[in-house]
Amino acid sequence: MRGRYKILVYGCQMNIADAERMEGQLQEAGYVRTEEMTDADVILINTCCVRETAEDKVYGKIGEIKKVKEKHPRLIFGITGCMAQKEGDNLMRRAPHIDFVLGTGKVQELTRVIAEVAAEHTPVVDVALADKSIAEHLPVARGGKFSAWVPIMYGCNNYCTYCIVPYVRGRERSRAPEEIVAEVRRAVAEGYTEVTLLGQNVNSYGKDHKQADFADLLRMVDEVEGIRRVRFMTSHPKDISDKLIDTIKNGQHICEHIHLPVQYGSNRILKAMNRVYTVEQYRERARRVRDALPNASLTTDLIVGFPGETDEDFAEMLAFLREMRYDSAYTFLYSKRSGTPAATMAHQVPDDVKHARLNALMAEQNAISREINDRLRGAMLEVMVEGASKNDPTVWSGRTRTNKIVLFPHGAEQEGDFVQVKITQPQTWVLKGEVVS
Ligand code: SAH
Ligand code: SF4
Ligand code: F3S
Repeated sequence: MRGRYKILVYGCQMNIADAERMEGQLQEAGYVRTEEMTDADVILINTCCVRETAEDKVYGKIGEIKKVKEKHPRLIFGITGCMAQKEGDNLMRRAPHIDFVLGTGKVQELTRVIAEVAAEHTPVVDVALADKSIAEHLPVARGGKFSAWVPIMYGCNNYCTYCIVPYVRGRERSRAPEEIVAEVRRAVAEGYTEVTLLGQNVNSYGKDHKQADFADLLRMVDEVEGIRRVRFMTSHPKDISDKLIDTIKNGQHICEHIHLPVQYGSNRILKAMNRVYTVEQYRERARRVRDALPNASLTTDLIVGFPGETDEDFAEMLAFLREMRYDSAYTFLYSKRSGTPAATMAHQVPDDVKHARLNALMAEQNAISREINDRLRGAMLEVMVEGASKNDPTVWSGRTRTNKIVLFPHGAEQEGDFVQVKITQPQTWVLKGEVVS
């Protein structure tokens, strides 16, 4: 045995998937997981820098770990992920108790770097961006028991003007379809019944290697023997094709949930954001989705307070939200990311205005989510049992194919089972119900 490790993970599913590959390598090297920072020999923070609040959380943790390290001087402390990529050795200057900083393209170097730090007692910073290559065949220690994250592509070429992701994740590069299918087959053989295919914009999958497009890939994964649910995120509205929509419709296990971030509801702001579609184009795509998949849930991401946003823009945004009737939406306050074009745009929106707009947007969306869920009263839905509810161990939490959370009292069913649940009490964020055998 080499020692114990603890990994803290911030940010999106991509970071969770990367962390599972880090854990896989650590376990292969003989490390075992611990929940306590105070008895860890290695602590890693897999970081996010998409908004300032994400970075603030990480700096808070880095401060906390300084105290742990004072008591355990041999502890090896590393920073990985998007903030590592963005800040590089700045992090060490700010917090000299960090032993290494490893960029997003260097996940596969983890155990080598830890060994180097342990042997040489010198700090390591390695943040070269892997712009072409993909590290395949890394061991994976999955967090879930029935649900597996499967990255299908890395990076982003879109350069939305507010967003730091392309700078910290590099150019788009797609895994080979046979690698992805092989990973899904392995996961199914280990007992996983649900996979979520991950990428910053999965619709661009395969544009680099041209061996398969995203619709082709979805079909291949749908056909893997034993798979029960296939999910994917995130879809960029600019290239959600008819072929893709038809593939979802004709698929057996492809879940009817499309996360289709619009970001904003006025053409002026969409243009300034470099989202490359108009409100009209988005509306047409969403309509096509709804016509083909009437029971699908549609969810989105929205940013308020983008530079130059006026009251008129915001009124258009609210009207668009009412028109689209999303099942749910993640709403964000615009956060200035230095190095992105929007950070130096004129007319940054004052904080109080941003907050007021966010509150108005959330209130509107909550009312819509509630109305949509209310219509599910009495409905019978297939739910995959995911685990005990956080607030009440006698209640199960599971999900519908449309990705809605369902809570229901324990019966004879087990984690990972698929059950039919009758919805009795729809709420804004969850549906409550009971199992019907
Ligand atoms: N690739 C995905 C999402 C990546 S980041 C997509 O294009 O949809 C997740 C969400 O964070 C984005 O959809 C966006 O709504 C939000 N986001 C990104 N940069 C941001 C910023 N600077 N300020 C506030 N929200 C931001
Ligand atoms: Fe960021 Fe836009 Fe790429 Fe999404 S598509 S990761 S918002 S640059
Ligand atoms: Fe954050 Fe990086 Fe994901 S910046 S949102 S962890 S790609």
